This record gives sequence, structure tokens and C-alpha cells, in this order.
Amino acid sequence: MKIPSLKIGDVFVKYPIIQGGMAIGVSTFELACAVADEGGVGVIGGTGLSMDDLRDQMREARAATKGVLGMNIMVAARDFKEAVLVALKEKVDVIIAGAGFSRDVFTICREWKTPLITMVASAKVARLSERLGAAAVIVEGCDAGGHLGTESKASDLLPSICEAVSIPVIAAGGFVDGRDIAQMLELGAAGVQLGTRFLLSDECTVHKNFKNLLLNAKASDLVRILSPVGLPANAIHTPLVKKYLAGDTSIKPKSCDGCLKKCGQQFCIAGALRDARDGDYEHGLFFTGKRFTDIASVKPVKQIFADLLSETQAYLDRVLDKSVSVNG
Ligand SMILES: Cc1cc2nc3c(=O)[nH]c(=O)nc-3n(C[C@H](O)[C@H](O)[C@H](O)COP(=O)(O)O)c2cc1C
Repeated sequence: MKIPSLKIGDVFVKYPIIQGGMAIGVSTFELACAVADEGGVGVIGGTGLSMDDLRDQMREARAATKGVLGMNIMVAARDFKEAVLVALKEKVDVIIAGAGFSRDVFTICREWKTPLITMVASAKVARLSERLGAAAVIVEGCDAGGHLGTESKASDLLPSICEAVSIPVIAAGGFVDGRDIAQMLELGAAGVQLGTRFLLSDECTVHKNFKNLLLNAKASDLVRILSPVGLPANAIHTPLVKKYLAGDTSIKPKSCDGCLKKCGQQFCIAGALRDARDGDYEHGLFFTGKRFTDIASVKPVKQIFADLLSETQAYLDRVLDKSVSVNG
């Protein structure tokens, strides 16, 4: 079996690899363009950017690559619809709606004739997404970075969701190498989305402290928290998280610009994610996928792609060889 390409609506993607959108300036146009240039979908994390910054990010990206570009926007953000419209006006190829479900965005993307991908965690929501016009769905499991919509692993959810819909199903959460990709393809996924693997790339513009923290942390440094958004998330057990889990009220926000539709305000999550991006160990909230310990080094996206593709192909060849020798 050869590594298949991916079709999202009318958009052709050479390789079935999507770089996960990461909010608050973690996946910026530099990373998205590098991934798009290699034949995957490069995704700008649109949440937490001003509309001007979002527009600039799209323009820079469009000018720098001819590859496929996506914009990920969290439904939980107050300016979700506005951000989607900015991305569409700047001719984004694909919209990815994360952290929540919005019926309005289906209508908007249909009007703009732009494929919409939704994040799902059940066959029921996948079927609803398909009926409303989604071009593909992402099944994100509990090992993922960012906010989580389920306690199940993507590999456990995948078979029933693949059976429930006829649009492409993309697996996400806890995948870091080509073997993972091949296994998801075998289970019926049309593609795989990786976040943390691409965070640990040269082109990801977060501060080196963020990358070094993930490279040096142990599996036991990971903790599951209930974020102020009201959703669980995997994060490194840093001083802010320790204070939060201990119920320390000194971390409550001193002011709030209401960036989220709903927020528990135990601490300012936008500010804490910004601090993480800027490498502030003391105040930052460092989201990561659970498999960060399986990533040994920061590499250029070109190398990450070359490794992912050769590992995927090698695994597919081995499995195919075995089935030929069993059948023959
Ligand atoms: C720092 C960080 C920020 C993220 N921000 C978002 C986001 O804004 N929207 C979203 O849908 N997913 C977000 N995610 C999830 C990724 O897009 C991706 O689905 C996830 O990281 C996949 O799991 P992996 O990291 O194990 O590969 C984020 C992940 C990380 C690590």
C-alpha cells in the first residue's frame, strides 16, 4: 500500500498529514507554511489573535506558500465567527472548528464554498457534522494536546466513526511517528493530525524554553487539568498548575477582556498560554500531547516530514508483505 493522498472537499492534499492548529501564537504562519510546502495541511492557530494579526498571518502565509493552508479557530472563543470570516476573506483553503460545536459555521463555510472540518468524539456528532455539510471530521482522543472532548483514545473511537460517515475521518491525539500514522490508516483514517510533534520543530516560533521543557520533562510531569474553559486538557505540572490545583486564589485574573464565551476565571487562560509561548516557566500553562516523551529532539519540518513518510511507508510495506506471505 502506498501512502494515500487526502481529499478535503475539493482540496487535494498530497500527504495525509495535518499539522494541528495551536492557539495563541503557537502555530503561526512560519510553521503552517513549512508543513504546507512539504505537502501536508499547514494550520494557523487563529484563536487568541486580534483580527488584524489573523489577517496578517493569513497574508504572510498566502504569500509564502502554494500549499494547503488551514485556520483553526476555537468555537469557545467569543470572536469565533468574526475570525472565521477574516480567514475566509483571506482565502484560507480549509476551516477547522475546534473546542466546541457551532451550527452557524456550516452555513458560513457553505456560502464561502470552503471546506469545514469539525472535531468530533462520537459517531453521533460525526454523523451530525456530515449531515450539516462538514467536508471531514477530526477524531481527537484523550492523549492529545490542547482541550479534550473525550476520555477515549482516538484509536478506540476511530472504527465506529469511520463506519458512521462517508467523509474523510482524521485521527488526532498522541501520534508522533510514521508507525502511528500507518496504524491509523489501517484502522480506516484518511489522515492523521499531529500537534506536539510539530510544536517541537525549528519552524514553530514558541520560545525555546517551551520546547526544552517538553524535551526534558518526564511522563510523570504531565497532569490532566480542567481548564477555565470548562474542558479537560493535558499540561505540564508547572508552578501555575500547582497553584491552580491547590486552589490558590492569588492567580485569579486582575482584569478580563472576555475573550471566551464562558470562562471559570480561576486564572486567565489566554494570558497563561501567552506566557507559555513566551517561555515563562513560572506563569505559563504548557499544553502538550501525552506522547511528548517519545519525541527526542527539535527538527526542521522538512526532516520531520521525511521521517514520518519513510516510517509510514516502511510500516505499510511490512504489513503488506506479511499479509501477502500469509495469503500466498
Ligand atoms: C499548545 C497547544 C495548543 C493547541 N491549541 C489548539 C487550538 O487552538 N485548537 C484546537 O482545535 N486544537 C488545539 N490543540 C490541539 C492540536 O491541534 C492537535 O489536535 C493535538 O495537539 C494533537 O495531539 P498531539 O499533540 O498528541 O499530536 C493544541 C495543542 C497544543 C499542544
